[in-house]
Amino acid sequence: MIDFLLNGQPRRCEVSPDTSVLELLRETLGQTGTKEGCASGDCGACTVAIGEPGPDGRVRYQAANACITPAHQLQGRQLVTVEGLAQGEALHPAQAAMVDCHGSQCGFCTPGIVMSLFTLHEEQRQRPAPLTPERLEAALGGNLCRCTGYRPIRDAALAMGDYPEQRPQWLDAAAPKPEPVTDAIFIQPSSLAELMAERSAHPEAPVVAGGTDLWLEVTQRLRRFERLVDVTRVAELQTLEEATQEDGSPGWWIGGAVTYSRLEPLLEEHYEPFAHLLHRLGSGQVRNRGTLGGNIANASPIGDTPPVLLALGSRLWLAGPEGERELALDDFFLDYKKTALREGEVIRAIFLPRPAPERHLKVWKLSKRREDDISAVLGAFAWRLEDGILRDVRLAFGGMAAIPKRAAEAEAALEGRVPSVAAFQAARLALGRDFQPMSDVRGSAHYRQLSAANLLERLRLVLLRDNQAQQNENTDREVMLHAYAH
Ligand code: FES
Ligand code: FES
Repeated sequence: MIDFLLNGQPRRCEVSPDTSVLELLRETLGQTGTKEGCASGDCGACTVAIGEPGPDGRVRYQAANACITPAHQLQGRQLVTVEGLAQGEALHPAQAAMVDCHGSQCGFCTPGIVMSLFTLHEEQRQRPAPLTPERLEAALGGNLCRCTGYRPIRDAALAMGDYPEQRPQWLDAAAPKPEPVTDAIFIQPSSLAELMAERSAHPEAPVVAGGTDLWLEVTQRLRRFERLVDVTRVAELQTLEEATQEDGSPGWWIGGAVTYSRLEPLLEEHYEPFAHLLHRLGSGQVRNRGTLGGNIANASPIGDTPPVLLALGSRLWLAGPEGERELALDDFFLDYKKTALREGEVIRAIFLPRPAPERHLKVWKLSKRREDDISAVLGAFAWRLEDGILRDVRLAFGGMAAIPKRAAEAEAALEGRVPSVAAFQAARLALGRDFQPMSDVRGSAHYRQLSAANLLERLRLVLLRDNQAQQNENTDREVMLHAYAH
């Protein structure tokens, strides 16, 4: 049994562990404004907004794909659907602007787009900021429209702020019962100790956090769950704190259930290439719910964050019935979807090293679309230059093997060398020994091998460009010094 608010109205519903928010809305509650398109988190037709109080006590709304959100996770939250926005004849600014800018034709995507605009509008109310093209793309990148075209929709996004405030007052109300679910089939522990006890009692029950991957099993493979263990309310898995490793290296421990959206500001401040990748990981709806721990534990060969974390030398903090331990991410992925996690273990936190000034990172993702797509190949490269010599080279790839994996032979070809044409040619050849990729719908084996080699060539060109820029700077300085001296 779950208690939540639906468009300001208290609701109490019985749901099974594999009921999605979309199923609950359309089939149990008869709220059919929210549409089903792909049922896999790709199209945004089912976008709803889920609200809960933020750190300042004000209710914050985040867009979510209802088709892959477990209904149980609505417990204690405010769910807003497209039916809730208008007040009588008066449309919400997101709706009014869509009408006036001709942002809808067949209308199938429109409720989802309106809900994404609604969350953007709410964000603007709480933290006003310029609506840059990047912000608009982030807000709407998870909503596909096959017939209208995006310009009128973008125009609506830009215009809605000029409409008179037309906002239901219940939007500011937090759900009255924020406690976790107390349910034998959807177990929602709030501490690590409780989580460990539940994992021991129900070792067969899958672990769920955002559900952005696990729920595809339900919608695409019709899998049913008898019981799920939800880690999203485990306090220890929600921490994000600065820490120093035993060897003195500084960084952050990021709780396993921290969402990509929460991680975004930290990466934007400290790891621009990683933040840039995050902007291309799924859509806003997915980033609001997907977690770093989930992306790693899932062990998908095309998960976006593992190659970057491998290149950065991340470590994992694992917690299980036998106690806790640390493990280098290098030792975590064993085989296709097989990890070093022992029975009952979870990823408690991930250590992200603080960037060192002399250490560089580049991340390039290749996919068919820029927004909301899965990688065909992803390359993450870290290195430092010592007197023009490449040191501590770590080259990690996604999409090239059964697991996210470092290219040991290519690394060896570059380590200790100047970044010359010959060194990179050797590294590109070495990739053939590191990987034998497979062909699938995202790319043939040949495409993958060639693309990975091309990413290394791109890295060489970047190093060359940076080196030339540095030389130009040095020359400029010498010219100026010379001019002053005379
Ligand atoms: Fe396509 Fe949910 S129906 S994202
Ligand atoms: Fe038809 Fe967008 S209006 S899909």
